[in-house]
Amino acid sequence: MSKRFTLTAALPYTNGPLHIGHLAGVYVPADIYARYLRIQGHDVAFICGSDEHGVPITIKAKKEGVSPQDIVDRYHKIIKDSFNEFGISFDNYSRTSATIHHETASAFFKTLHQKGAFLEETTDQLYDAEAQQFLADRFVVGTCPKCGHTESYGDQCEACGTSHNATDLIQPKSAISGHTPELKSTKHWYLPLDQHQEFLKSWIGDEHKEDWKPNVYGQCMSWINDGLRPRAVTRDLDWGIPVPVDGGEGKVLYVWFDAPIGYISSTKEWAKAQGKDWAPYWKDKETTLLHFIGKDNIVFHCIIFPAMLKAEGSYILPKNVPANEFLNLEGQKLSTSKNWAVWLPDYLKDFPNQQDVLRYVLTATAPETKDNDFTWKDFQARNNNELVAIYGNFINRVLVLTHKYYGGEIPEATTLTETDKAALEQLQGTPKSLALSLDRFRFREASQVLMNLARAGNKYLADEEPWKVIKTNPERVQNIMHTALQIAAGLSVLSEPFLPFTAKKLQQMLRLNEALKHVQNPSGWQAISKGERLLPSGHSIDKPSLLFTKIEDHQIQAQLDRLEASKTANVQQTTVVPQKPNIPFEDFSKMDLRIGTIVAAEKMPKTKKLLVLKVDIGTEVRTIVSGIAENYAPEAVVGQKVTVLCNLKPRALRGVESQGMILMARANDGQLVFVQPDEAHPTPSGMPIS
Ligand code: MF3
Ligand code: ZN
Repeated sequence: MSKRFTLTAALPYTNGPLHIGHLAGVYVPADIYARYLRIQGHDVAFICGSDEHGVPITIKAKKEGVSPQDIVDRYHKIIKDSFNEFGISFDNYSRTSATIHHETASAFFKTLHQKGAFLEETTDQLYDAEAQQFLADRFVVGTCPKCGHTESYGDQCEACGTSHNATDLIQPKSAISGHTPELKSTKHWYLPLDQHQEFLKSWIGDEHKEDWKPNVYGQCMSWINDGLRPRAVTRDLDWGIPVPVDGGEGKVLYVWFDAPIGYISSTKEWAKAQGKDWAPYWKDKETTLLHFIGKDNIVFHCIIFPAMLKAEGSYILPKNVPANEFLNLEGQKLSTSKNWAVWLPDYLKDFPNQQDVLRYVLTATAPETKDNDFTWKDFQARNNNELVAIYGNFINRVLVLTHKYYGGEIPEATTLTETDKAALEQLQGTPKSLALSLDRFRFREASQVLMNLARAGNKYLADEEPWKVIKTNPERVQNIMHTALQIAAGLSVLSEPFLPFTAKKLQQMLRLNEALKHVQNPSGWQAISKGERLLPSGHSIDKPSLLFTKIEDHQIQAQLDRLEASKTANVQQTTVVPQKPNIPFEDFSKMDLRIGTIVAAEKMPKTKKLLVLKVDIGTEVRTIVSGIAENYAPEAVVGQKVTVLCNLKPRALRGVESQGMILMARANDGQLVFVQPDEAHPTPSGMPIS
């Protein structure tokens, strides 16, 4: 039965081009799912658009000395082109600067305002007097109150994903001037998440315990159990959607308030162009709403946006939010600023017409349950050993032999052996296996189900050896080729969600559209699962051309060299950090710096970054909480000599009082390292540094 689906993919920020992390985490899985639903005949609205507000765009514009509009116009086009080029089959790609979005987001805000769904409060907020600007979101950096990460943004910590208010940051610093902000009073509208806590707890905790991915479910429950607090949904900024109610002059909607509403505006834009009604896609309880996102977006899609939708009252909530973890590149975190990425426009220049290769590799190694690594060697291996040697080889052999023996006509099957039948049964069972994986958002597994069908086809041919049998038993070869051709045709249909360009090319070579006129089931997908043969005897196919080509070592080396060059550039960049202003000696002498020895260490429970250290500073043993757990295991630091700032005012991190600070530096390879005395000259704990 045909059902209605609304699929959304996170609206990308228009402050740079897309890289492989975007594709792997969000857009390729979302596209596979959308295509998978469509080939089964479902009614799908696959929605996206550019996220054009928010601080990252203003910062980029400032850096380049152009207007934010210039930035979003430039990247909207680049991003949209990349999506097209990679076959991401959005039904609509809109942008949040579109009029329809401004109207929709304003109306949404007004409705909530009228319903009394906001708190209006005048409070002290962080302010940079020099820049004359309030500091929210990415304009302010400080220590995360939840995990101790020292570079958390004002609205969200990228290390632990928690969303907070800027005033919650410990030791905030302006990202514009580097100064410690002042407090200045200002009015804002808050979404009282605490009032939605019970609802969220039962909606997620009870209804979605089983069907949401454990990483998504676990994060949500941890935030809910920590207690939700009101979150400001307006900002003192000039780039964004104006706050549409009295007292809102000079203020705009928080980007994370307006952007998810962008899904709704984009749906409206699409429906209008199609002459359809948009409302059922967002309001009909029979519609399945799914949000495809990366893990840093979980809080917004599982807590804040649902609370907004619930408060509005007429919307459905997402059925699932299949968030992925992060993709690393050659063992390091992808980073735009460090140019540690594979940019999609660059990829296409170096590997023209090889979009499906990247789609396949990113799916086969997708960061579904944990962060995963993309390596160029793996990319080459998956192309050469799987796409070329298995899939491509199978198809090429089948098509070439069909032309050689039968002038391109599908031979008749006379008597199928058990082996032939088993091969056809594997084909028949594949749609079901794919569905089992895809319906649980296991795209990696699904890609291997598909490859296994090609593998089975390849093995079938190798075992049956039609090129030998042709000399002695031509009738047997007819049966072999008839069977192999059905598998080839099946592959062309079942590959479509994963390898859309290849599938299309193969379907054209097989003249599949013509052939499908003879099948009884409404679609190729259904025909396969009912055991119908897709290619009737006597049907003619075109001459084959190669589907995949081998990727050579030198192509991979060129990519690795380019990354190596970014590394060198980064090291040079970090060594030229400008000097801070001079200080008098008295300021320096206020610091009590000493050599210490770490005598015990353990991980702070439920954090990724923090170690709780016991450090002998000569006079006593201090407890110091340090954000080095990702770089050092507790057992590796015991016994290390370190430099300690002993008279830093104690502060509590996660309930543990930290009585000092350990000095660290960043090494060329990105590791955090201790600043230590020379091992050749043992230095006792407590020795002052002067
Ligand atoms: N622009 C955000 C990001 O790249 C995602 C926005 S998703 C939406 O992280 F829901 F707000 F649209
Ligand atoms: Zn954090």
